[in-house]
Amino acid sequence: MPQIPLMQTRGLHKSYFNDGLETPVLFDVNLVIEKGEFVAIMGPSGSGKSTLMHILGFLDHHTKGEYLFQGEPTQRMTDDALAKIRATRVSFVFQAFNLLPRTTVLGNVMLPLLYHPTIPPSERHDRALKAIETVGLMDRKDFYSSQLSGGQKQRVAIARALVTEPDVIFADEPTGNLDSASGIQVMEALQTLHDHGHTIILVTHEKTTAEHAERIIRIKDGRIESDTKEFKRVIATKNASLK
Ligand SMILES: Nc1ncnc2c1ncn2[C@@H]1O[C@H](COP(=O)(O)OP(=O)(O)OP(=O)(O)O)[C@@H](O)[C@H]1O
Ligand SMILES: [Mg+2]
Repeated sequence: MPQIPLMQTRGLHKSYFNDGLETPVLFDVNLVIEKGEFVAIMGPSGSGKSTLMHILGFLDHHTKGEYLFQGEPTQRMTDDALAKIRATRVSFVFQAFNLLPRTTVLGNVMLPLLYHPTIPPSERHDRALKAIETVGLMDRKDFYSSQLSGGQKQRVAIARALVTEPDVIFADEPTGNLDSASGIQVMEALQTLHDHGHTIILVTHEKTTAEHAERIIRIKDGRIESDTKEFKRVIATKNASLK
């Protein structure tokens, strides 16, 4: 039986409307993303990468065409259903970290569990610790997030994104504010999640960052310019050389 793709768009368009003025941004986007993929979205500034990611991650709506999540057309979903998907199925990591500064690492990572509809309060602490362990920050768990380096902050943001065990983790320029050594640590954390079966969608300008992905979608002027899996072999070789 053919598997239902995790995410699929058909003829998807997006326009922004401000004061009656239409700004068309995405045109006829057709994509299939399967569970477990590690996809990088690349393209020039203003080409529509964040817009596409926000639509796929339920932070924004498309204006024409279809977006199916696990086979279900999202335009037919109720507000309650959408809120539940946002809380349980998807997570975001942003360039600017977006952590609470006067809250500990543990507190920040537990945050998405406070509003989670199905994970019981008794599991919050252990789940948060497990997520912190995954990103290698157990020795910093009681630090305030303001006491961390940029790379460590981003790893906390990744732990916070993974603590609900979402179907997809979206990362928009997660290494954009980091020096190259911290960027590598952040990418290794995302790579670990991918190795554990998480679906990852990454927006990046940097070719070296995109090379962690198995598939690269290039966007230009709101259209998909190319969609390739060329880096898979490179990564396989890299992993082999690390062992
Ligand atoms: N709220 C908005 N209203 C009108 N136009 C918008 C709005 N948000 C974004 N845009 C326009 O949509 C286009 C795509 O923006 P988007 O943020 O998706 O680009 P991007 O590829 O992520 O760029 P960058 O690499 O700089 O982050 C841009 O031309 C931008 O001006
Ligand atoms: Mg962007």
